[in-house]
This record gives sequence, C-alpha cells and structure tokens, in this order.
Amino acid sequence: MADKITEMISEEEIVKRTCEIANQINEDYKGEEIHLICVLRGGSFFTCELAKHITLPVTMDFISCSSYGNDTKSSGVVRIVKDLSDSIVDKNVIVIEDVVDTGRTLSYLLKMLKDRQPKSLKLCSLLDKPSRRVVEVKTDYIGFTIPDKFVVGFGLDYAQKYRNLPFIGEIVPEDNN
Ligand code: PRP
Repeated sequence: MADKITEMISEEEIVKRTCEIANQINEDYKGEEIHLICVLRGGSFFTCELAKHITLPVTMDFISCSSYGNDTKSSGVVRIVKDLSDSIVDKNVIVIEDVVDTGRTLSYLLKMLKDRQPKSLKLCSLLDKPSRRVVEVKTDYIGFTIPDKFVVGFGLDYAQKYRNLPFIGEIVPEDNN
C-alpha cells in the first residue's frame, strides 16, 4: 500500500491567505525595508510565495537548524546546520516557517536572533498547531491553525518526501494503512 494523502488546504486557499498576510505586512511596515529569514527546509515554499506579494523592498536570507536528536530534544537546544549569510543588525526581520509545533525550534531561534540586535523581529508561519505547544512562542502572522494531524506539502515533508505538493495534505503513511 502507498502513503495515503488527503487534501486539507488547497493551493488556492494557501495563495489567497498568503496574499492577505503579505498585504498585512505591507501595511505594518509601510515606508520600511524587510529582511525575510527562511527557515530551511520546510519554510522554503511559503517564503517564496509570501515574498512575491510583498511590495516593500525585500532582502532574503536562509537558516537551517535541527534538534540534537531525541534524547536531548526536550532541552530545546537546536543545532545550527547553516547559519545566516548576512548580519541582521538594525534590520526588520521576519522569520518564515512552515509550522510551529512544540515551539522548541522557534523559541530557541528567536532568542538567538534577538541577541543579534535586529531593529525588529517577528515570526510568520504558514501553519500553527497550538495543541502541540510545549514552549510558548509569540506568533505574529499565521496562515492556518490546524489540529494535531501529520501534514505534508507546500514545504512540509514525510521522510523528506512530498515537500513539492502544491497543497497541504494529511498523510497516513504506508505502514499505518
Ligand atoms: C520542522 C519545522 C520547524 C520545526 C517545528 O522542521 O519546519 O522548524 O520542525 O517543530 P517544533 O515547533 O516542535 O520545534 P524540521 O526539523 O522537520 O525540518 P525541515 O523544515 O527541514 O523539515
């Protein structure tokens, strides 16, 4: 049996909601420049879609992190796999994620970035799973709040697959069918 994927949020809905968020950002930062930080790998599709609809001057950078394996996951310590290329001092930084789950990754990342003295720092995530939260994280822009389901697509993976699906789907992996 193959993995079973059921569409939860269509491509059309994602693009529409992303445009709404971009418009809100255009309003909130009027007259300013914005520095988007894409959290790899999941945040890549949402970052690109969002950036297309921002009409203010935009610069972009990329960061990649992973938690230190299961034993230490609860410590909330994450490893920076690829750090930013540029300084964020005095920049209006918006961190772009695909999903906030337990909040451990973003809590760590936001603290680390705050220490680098940006002019402002906000978080924008395509998805939010508040029922999974372990560490409190202030989310500034959220696309969709979803239940605790295993989802793939639009950047989100299952065993590194399905990131390229243009919609968000709930997956029941092959071994659970
Ligand atoms: C996912 C997601 C967030 C994090 C959220 O990344 O992109 O970074 O987990 O989980 P948390 O709120 O419980 O910390 P993942 O480690 O799966 O890497 P990926 O983006 O490369 O898929």
